[in-house]
Amino acid sequence: MATNPIPQFPAGFLWGVSTSAHQIEGAADLRAPSVWDAFTAEPGRVKDGSTAAVACDHYHRYREDVALLADLGVDAYRFSVSWPRVDSPGGLDFYDRLVDELCAAGIRPVATLFHWDLPVGLDWLRRETAERFAQYTATVAARLGDRVGSWLTLNEPAEHTLLGHALGAHAPGRQLLFDALPAAHHQLLGHGLAVRALRAAGATDIGIANSHGPTWPASHAAEDLEAAAFYDILLNRLFADPLLLGRYPEGIDALMPGDVEADLKVIAEPIDRYGVNYYAPTRVGAPQGDEIEFGGLTLPAELPFSVREIEDRPVTDFGWPVVPEGLTELLTGLRDRYGDRLPPVVITENGCSYQGLDDQDRIGYLDGHIRALHDALAAGVDVRGYFVWSLLDNFEWAEGYARRFGLVHVDFATLERTPKASYGWFREVLRAQR
Ligand code: NOJ
Repeated sequence: MATNPIPQFPAGFLWGVSTSAHQIEGAADLRAPSVWDAFTAEPGRVKDGSTAAVACDHYHRYREDVALLADLGVDAYRFSVSWPRVDSPGGLDFYDRLVDELCAAGIRPVATLFHWDLPVGLDWLRRETAERFAQYTATVAARLGDRVGSWLTLNEPAEHTLLGHALGAHAPGRQLLFDALPAAHHQLLGHGLAVRALRAAGATDIGIANSHGPTWPASHAAEDLEAAAFYDILLNRLFADPLLLGRYPEGIDALMPGDVEADLKVIAEPIDRYGVNYYAPTRVGAPQGDEIEFGGLTLPAELPFSVREIEDRPVTDFGWPVVPEGLTELLTGLRDRYGDRLPPVVITENGCSYQGLDDQDRIGYLDGHIRALHDALAAGVDVRGYFVWSLLDNFEWAEGYARRFGLVHVDFATLERTPKASYGWFREVLRAQR
């Protein structure tokens, strides 16, 4: 564990932790089903066969969880609103109570409107879902907008498109490969329409949480460089270019549905914050003609790239390499690419999966990444906040409960919460920043 104090961040820098509704709430019986409920009900979809019907039971235990946040000393808490819950009688009352509890504890609520739990019956391949998303957003904003200071429209639409619609590893379980792209377009359109709905409701701090990570070519050979550039478009530019530049990366327009030019005007609606979820860089090379097992995924042979191991780095339980300086590289790269068009950045997720209560590995990971973030600030990137993924161990999607990302351990048999060593460490980091 590093013993040097972490450098001081600017006054007003927002420190927080993140969660999402489907991963922690449980109380599935008190809401309409989402595509994730349908997906987990199919045998073999989730590795340990588990579901999120109870998860951390946060729905009933939110007071205890807000007390953990207060004791941790965070400025802000990023949670997501479950669309199927809002569609259910009394569903919004839960978020009303949660937001009140946060405000009473002096914690800023940061609400994500879509973190993958789409109501059953809706489908991002259909344009109508974008309009429905804006209506739902308006309903949530009308109820919570007097207390929620910061809004994020979508969480990681790149992963939702890739894993959910292209590869089938996540709900809704489609394997459309490049025919999944309309799901990306409609999420982006939904984002733009939701930004307008939030503005109309008086919101002033609006953003999106996109996943990003440096793409490292496997070699300098032309075919590896080409494959890496293509992967980089899919992960780092497919969503950021239309949002920040008002255009799709080269060649993508033609694959998108509808009047793309007109939609791009909606998609590029100005935002106030740019949320970045960062976990690790990816080493990418030319296709190798075989399926690849990577980070819990099976990548089909027909993809025009292959993902390679990053050698000589420690890895998390998930097999993801630990590369703190990748965060500095990523942020300076975003600044260089988007210049003045890049709004102030908030790291909306960063974290790692490890077992155990004495989680020195997690402390090392977070320590390294917070320092790397400070390096990005020192290099002139306008970063305004940092959120650890996650407050609690939770339902890690297709991995079930096997991957533990929490600062707080959850015993899924008793639902007892136990702060890990990293929780105490982060609390001290926050104290030292005051
Ligand atoms: C990103 C996703 O937003 C979150 O839901 C997930 O648990 C973490 N990554 C870790 O995989």
